[in-house]
Amino acid sequence: MKFVRELKRTDYCGKLTSQHIGKKVVLMGWVNTRRDHGSLIFIDLRDREGIVQVVLDPAQTETSSSKEFRNEFVVALEGVVRARPEGMKNSKINTGEIEIEATRCEILNQAATPPFQIDDENVNETLRLKHRYLDLRSPRLQKNLITRHKVAQLVRQFLSENGFLEVETPILYKSTPEGARDYLVPSRVNPGTFYALPQSPQILKQLLMVSGYDRYFQIARCFRDEDLRADRQPEFSQIDIEMSFIDVEDIIDINEKMLRMIWKEIKNQDVAVIPRITFQEAMDRYGSDKPDTRFKVEIQDVAAAVAGSDFKVFSDALSRGGIVRGIAVPGGGTFSRGQFDKLTDIAKKNGAKGMIWMKQEADGTIASPIAKFFTPEKLKEIFEKLGCSKNDCGLIVADDYDPACSALSALRIHIGRELNLIDHTKYNFLWVVDFPLLEYSPDDKRWVARHHPFTSPKDESFDDLMNNNEKAYGKILAKAYDLVCNGYEMGGGSIRIYRNEIQQAMFRLLGMTVEETENKFGFFLDALKYGTPPHGGIAWGLDRLVMLLMETDAIREVIAFPKTAKATCLMSDCPSEVNRDQLVEVGVRLTAQAEKHIEDSKKNSN
Ligand code: AMO
Repeated sequence: MKFVRELKRTDYCGKLTSQHIGKKVVLMGWVNTRRDHGSLIFIDLRDREGIVQVVLDPAQTETSSSKEFRNEFVVALEGVVRARPEGMKNSKINTGEIEIEATRCEILNQAATPPFQIDDENVNETLRLKHRYLDLRSPRLQKNLITRHKVAQLVRQFLSENGFLEVETPILYKSTPEGARDYLVPSRVNPGTFYALPQSPQILKQLLMVSGYDRYFQIARCFRDEDLRADRQPEFSQIDIEMSFIDVEDIIDINEKMLRMIWKEIKNQDVAVIPRITFQEAMDRYGSDKPDTRFKVEIQDVAAAVAGSDFKVFSDALSRGGIVRGIAVPGGGTFSRGQFDKLTDIAKKNGAKGMIWMKQEADGTIASPIAKFFTPEKLKEIFEKLGCSKNDCGLIVADDYDPACSALSALRIHIGRELNLIDHTKYNFLWVVDFPLLEYSPDDKRWVARHHPFTSPKDESFDDLMNNNEKAYGKILAKAYDLVCNGYEMGGGSIRIYRNEIQQAMFRLLGMTVEETENKFGFFLDALKYGTPPHGGIAWGLDRLVMLLMETDAIREVIAFPKTAKATCLMSDCPSEVNRDQLVEVGVRLTAQAEKHIEDSKKNSN
C-alpha cells in the first residue's frame, strides 16, 4: 500500500497524547531532528501542530529507509502510539508522554540541507526572511498564524451573530485619505490614469451605509506608503466595521463585547471595565495619545514652581506659551552623568531641545545643572513637585507643548523598560476619546484632519465649521475614539459627517478647492445627497491585535509574508524592475533618477 494515495494520514503529530496510546496511526511530516543509535533511529517528526517522537528499527525491511532520513525530509509512517519508558518523558511538549513505534515508513521527498535549523531562535532575521517558507515551519510562527486564523474566525462569527454583513470592497480604487502616501497602479486600458490601492475602505464602507446595509464588516487589506516601524507594515489588515443609526456609545459597547470575547477565547482572561480618558488628559499625564498605563510614572507640571526664574530655557518656553513639565524616575538618584546624557539624547531625538535632570545628594541638597539659577528651597520644591522622593531623580523638559509631550513620553517609556517597571503579564486597555478634529500643519500652512476628513465634530461645533470660524478650529472636538492597549493603538474610528453641506464645509476648511473636491470626492458628496443615515465605525489593526495576543512587539511575527523596514520582500526580491515593454504598455516612463537607482542597485548586487 502506498502512502498518500492509499494510506491516508490519520492524525497530526502535535495532537497525539497519552489518550491515543494503543492507536494505530499514519503520520506525515518533516524530520525535525534525527538521532541514529545504530539499532534504533529516533526522529522528531513535525507538522503544523507540533512534534512527536518516533522510534524506527532500520533492521526491519518496512522501516529500513529510515537510515536515509535527514533533517527536513518529508516522510510518512505508520505505527502505534505507546507510552514513553519512565524517565524518558518530556513535560515540555504536548506529546512528551508518548512516542510512536513505527512499523512502516517512506520518504515522500528529500530536502536540501536547510540554511538554518528550524527551531533555532538565534538565526539572523535577514536569513529567516529570505527563507520565510522555512521559518514558517517553526513552532513560533505556526502558533502565531494559527492564533491569527482563530481570531479572524472569532471576529467573523461574533460580528455575523450581531447582524453585521461581510462585504468585500475593491483593491483597485481611488485614493482614500488616511494620512499616508498612496500606492499607485497604472491603468493600461486608460493610459495616464492610475488606481490607488486603498489606505482603508473608509469611503466605501460609508457608501454601504448610504445603500442601507446597516451593519458592515470586512477583514480588509489596507496599503499605506509611510515610514515603517516595528508595529507598521506597508500592507496590513483591518477588522473594518461600520454601523448606521448609532452614536459613540453604541460603537464602544459592541467593540468592548468583541474584545472581551476575543480575550476570553484566546487568553482565557476576563477583561475588566475599560477606562476612558480624553485625548487632552492622555497627553497631559503621559505625553502620548496611546499611553502605556502598565506603570505609574506620570508627567507633572512644574510651571508654577519655576515661574519667574532667571533660567532662560524655562522662562522662554513659558513666555512662548510652552510648558515646563517632567517625570520622577523611581530609584534614578543613582544615575550617572553618562546616563543623564543618554536620556538627554532621547529627549532630543524626540523633538525637544534638551532635558534637565535633578537628584538629591546624601546631604539632602539637590544636584542639577540648573542648581545655580534657583535657591536650594526652590530646587527642593521643584523636585517634590515632580513627585520625586529621596532616591529618585527628576527629568524636566521645557518646550512647546507637542515636542515636550513627545520627549517626555519617550523618556517615560524608556525608563519603564530600562527599570523593568512594566508588568508584562498585564493588558491595560483604554479608550481615548474627544480627539481634536483638526490640527494646524505649519509645513502646509493649513488645517488638516486629525483622524480623516469624514469624522464628525461634536454637535456643538457644527456652526463653527459652517461659518468658517477659524479661531475656533483648534478647539473643535471630534466624535472620535481610539482603542489603546499597552502603548499600542489597536483600533480607531469615529462617528461620520452624514450631511452633504457639512462634508463640503469640511473639505473647504481643509483648503481644498471646489474643483479638487469635485475630482476627488464628487461621487461621495453626491451620494450623501440621497438619504444618508447617521453612521459611524471603527477599524482594528488585526496584525496589532494578534501581536498583543501573542505577546510579541514585532508585527512581522504575525504576518505570513511580511515586508522589511524598507518595504521589500527579501524572499521574492520585490519590489523589482519590470520589463520596459510593460512600462510602455501602461504609459509610464522612468525618471533619470529612477534609472540611476536601478543602475546603482545592479552595481551593488554584483
Ligand atoms: P486608522 O488609520 O486609525 O483608521 O487605522 C485603524 C487601525 O489600523 C491599524 N494600522 C496599522 N497596522 C499596521 N500597519 C500600519 N501601517 C497601520 N496603520 C494603521 C492600527 C489602527 O488603529 N478608516 C479609519 C477607521 C475608521 O474611521 O473607521 C482608519 O483606517 O491598529
